[in-house]
Amino acid sequence: MIDRSMAPAEKRDLVSIEDLSTAEILELFHHADEFRANLHAWSDLCRGAIMATLFFEPSTRTRLSFESAMLRLGGGVISAADGDATSRAKGESLADTVRVVGGSYADILVVRHPEDGAARVAARYATVPVINGGDGAHEHPTQTLCDLYTLWKEKGRLEGLEVVLCGDLRYSRTIHSFCYALARFGANIVTMPYPGFELPDYVMQRLQRDYGVQTAVAAMGDLPGLAGSSNAAAYLTASKPHQLALFTKLTNVEVNRIDAIYMTRAQRERHEGEDTANYPRLTRSTMGAASTKDARVMHPLPRVDEIDYDLDDDPRSIYFRQAELGVPMRMALMAYLLGKVQLRASRPELLSIMPGMPSDVLRCRNERCITNNEGVRYLKRDFRLRADSAPPKLACGYCEREIEARFVGHAQSRVAHRYNAAEVRRTKAENRVYFESEAQAQAAGFTLAGS
Ligand code: NCD
Repeated sequence: MIDRSMAPAEKRDLVSIEDLSTAEILELFHHADEFRANLHAWSDLCRGAIMATLFFEPSTRTRLSFESAMLRLGGGVISAADGDATSRAKGESLADTVRVVGGSYADILVVRHPEDGAARVAARYATVPVINGGDGAHEHPTQTLCDLYTLWKEKGRLEGLEVVLCGDLRYSRTIHSFCYALARFGANIVTMPYPGFELPDYVMQRLQRDYGVQTAVAAMGDLPGLAGSSNAAAYLTASKPHQLALFTKLTNVEVNRIDAIYMTRAQRERHEGEDTANYPRLTRSTMGAASTKDARVMHPLPRVDEIDYDLDDDPRSIYFRQAELGVPMRMALMAYLLGKVQLRASRPELLSIMPGMPSDVLRCRNERCITNNEGVRYLKRDFRLRADSAPPKLACGYCEREIEARFVGHAQSRVAHRYNAAEVRRTKAENRVYFESEAQAQAAGFTLAGS
């Protein structure tokens, strides 16, 4: 299974949880099991390899578990654990930092950064594999691997599980990566946001479009009555056979059981003074309800006040286990990215992206995106066109947030039409130039048809 002579065939990064197929994730779980069986047996597997952790935001578990994993694999570790102590404080770009560190300094990079899309920037500029250790509110794919692995070990499967996501669903990158993965594995998702901190529209739209998951919202107070009672709620059945439901308006549906409650802390570092005075807290009494009898309590940690310390010795509480399993899970991931473990499973299918020329006046609408922050100085804006929506959608190549292209121009004639005009259909894909608005097309020097 584990081949000591293997060299990586090509560079592969983990920026989004979608960069791994579900079959690859399951294979990685089996490798994590092998590593976990004896954590001390692998100290020559990655001998000579160096991992660099570049953390521009606070971290305890993510950085230390990566470092521990690499040391257990026999590799070495170099670490910039405090962004203020790096040349970033002098104005160095992330692109320049990773070009240098991911050269002769290190063979693999783990990057944490406050801006959405930063990990994709690192992956593009580094010549060695890059792992996203959390980029703004965007994604935290390795936390999701640990969460899924822990839940899979607890329940023996992921498909068909009923998982409740609680708290700050708006800014939690752990939630965003986790819900995409749960949807792909065919778990059911119930969202219980703290009011005002609902799952963002762009996440819900993606769940719906890419996985056929329908969306709705439940309140924390619904938890005790959610399962195992005649208080029926309504599943919104998904359009794709193996994908189920994200639901919340609890009317006319029966939920048989809750398998997991995933709590998150208020991501205050990404809020602007928003009121979290009544933030939910899981207590012994909530967990005493019949509906939560078999529910595992999960949390990516750090916990602030969202879970009573009284629940720590409850056998259903698995948050410290999630952190513990982070080491073998990250050993498996790094051994794979360094070519020491091979996966048989196919890679994920790429999103349908059609050729075309997004205009250079386009700007990502996500103010937290790296293209609107440090990247303004040097990143070329880059959008991927989604062929499967009308009006066409353009996803930012860094943070993946989408914008609508309501106007399409011809690169040579420099005439623009509404996206659904016959002239647009007659224009070759490579000649199309996309705009959000008439004003944008005109600002780029295009004439509007009929004007
Ligand atoms: C999470 C993070 O950084 O997003 N922490 C972690 O890596 N386990 C969750 C959090 O900070 O709330």
